[in-house]
This record gives sequence, structure tokens and C-alpha cells, in this order.
Amino acid sequence: MKPRIFVTRPIPSAVLERLAARGDLQVHHEDASLKPGPLGEACREVEGLLAVGVRVSEEVLSQASKLRVVANCGVGYDNIDVAACTARRIAVTNTPGVLTDTTADLAFALLMAVARRVVECDAFVRQGRWQRWEFGMLWGADIHHKTLGIFGFGRIGQAMARRGAGFGMRILYHSRRRAPEDLEREIGAQFVDRETLLRESDFLSLHCPSTSETHHAIGARELSLMKPSAFLINTARGKVVDEEAMVAALESKKLAGAGLDVFEHEPHLHPKLSGLANVVLMPHLGSATGETRFKMAMLAAENLLAALEGQRPPNLVNPEAYP
Ligand code: DGY
Repeated sequence: MKPRIFVTRPIPSAVLERLAARGDLQVHHEDASLKPGPLGEACREVEGLLAVGVRVSEEVLSQASKLRVVANCGVGYDNIDVAACTARRIAVTNTPGVLTDTTADLAFALLMAVARRVVECDAFVRQGRWQRWEFGMLWGADIHHKTLGIFGFGRIGQAMARRGAGFGMRILYHSRRRAPEDLEREIGAQFVDRETLLRESDFLSLHCPSTSETHHAIGARELSLMKPSAFLINTARGKVVDEEAMVAALESKKLAGAGLDVFEHEPHLHPKLSGLANVVLMPHLGSATGETRFKMAMLAAENLLAALEGQRPPNLVNPEAYP
């Protein structure tokens, strides 16, 4: 008998066809997050769960006694209770690599947009407020030859650093682990302690995972160390930043601006954020291009099928759970 597979949102038909050829497939056809109750219910007889934008909690797992693999369609897996999966010997996988450049592209787009006030200027022109050219109109900040600070120097952090280097920026980074010297040399990135990173960056871009260690890693104290002319870019996870403290810094001009793709309580915004001119806001779309979303869905499917077919999935995040 083919293993039962459940996919939590519509994904490209070529990926569904691949899954349907090797499993008994069910798909939740609405592009909306299933709540734990209905998700658990849908997983009762399921062995492979392809999780797209859902939270897989203990409540879900307790109803899914046959589950063998949760294949997350995303590189970050803070939406999955990995410890609870491991305790049940359920493999958890993610989709690293395929979205690296796409996410770094967006981080750099946010950096440029907020520094040169692209969104604000677009509104200015559309609203017919552009009456004449003025020398002092809507000045932004230079990007080239400024200091780009990278917090979290994994694949995406490194890809962001490469983009900055292309703009002639000085690259500093801080990470749990220092990168090999030859990689530092190739990218032109210098490892510094956290405090130096905060003090010296003109642009601070976050690229660490969301864990208990990185929760509010950028809070009031860290923001107070940054230059008032600095910009914060977050395409990692909202919980890495204390949003209340960031909004206070932006309001009081102790931080020049922020380019944000992620928020502490998504999809809910801090009530003051949308009223601030010095922020550019995106609805968590770091990996959202057609090419990349296709690759993510296909990689998640490959991970899922490998686990169901008794092979070690290529992107296993909890090897302890695996025989
Ligand atoms: C990721 O892959 O982690 C993206 O943020 C989508 O969740």
C-alpha cells in the first residue's frame, strides 16, 4: 500500500504529480494556514506531512500517530516542534540552499529601498505631490562604501555579504561560529564581536535562525549601541528583534530606518509601524519568486519521499530521530 501523504497548501502541480506517483496524496486546496485542530484531524492516518506555512505543534502530533516525516517547505523550521517530533522518532526536514540567493536579493532590495526612500518617493510621485525639482528634496543615504554588518553568517548571511561587497561596502559579521579564513578572505568579510558589529554598522542585516538564544537578540540595549544614522534590515525572523524597542528607536530617530520582511507577531503589525515613514515593510516574502518556490516545494517533496522510502532524507534536521 502506498503511504498516505498530506500537503497543507496548494503547491505546483508538477510536485503534486511526483508525490501522487509514490503516495496516496491529499492536498488542502486553500492557500491558508490550517489550525492545529483541523491539521491534526487531517493527519490522523498520514505518514508523510509536507508542511507549507503551518505550525506543527504537540497538539497536531498527538493526533498523528502514524506520522514518520514532517517535510517543511522553508529553511527556517521554528514552526515545527522539532523536540516533540524527535521524541516520536518523526524525521523533520527543511529546504536549505535553494532559497539562499532569492532571500539575499530581497534583503538587499530592502536595504536599498529604505536607504534611498524608494517607497516613500513612489508615493510622493503617485500622490501628485511632486510640483517642482528641489535640490534638498527627499535625500537618502549612500550605500556604497558604507559598512554592512551581518548578524548570522550562514548561507543567506554570506550571500548578503557578497551583494554588499559588490557595492564596495566594508563587510563585518558576527556569528555563533567564525567562518573559515579562506571564505572570509574570498568574500572580504571580517569577523567582529557583537558589540563592534552594532557600533560600526551603517546597515545591520539579520540572518540568524529564530531560537531561544536569538530571541530579542536586537533589543533596546543593542539598538542604543547602533549609530543613529544606521538602518536595520530583517529578513530572518521577527522574534529576533524586540519590536517595541525597535519602534521606539525609529520614532525617536535613534535608528534611521528599517527594512522589514518579518515581524514579531505575523501577520499582525506593531500598531505604530505602518505610520512610520522611515520603514519599508514586506509581508514575509523572502523566498517568494516563482522559480524558488518551485524548487522549495520540489526539495520538500524529495525529502519527504526519501524518508517514507527508508532513505536518509538529504535535509534532515533531527538526525537523532532517525535510525
Ligand atoms: C523560510 O524558508 O524560512 C522562509 O522564511 C519561509 O518561511
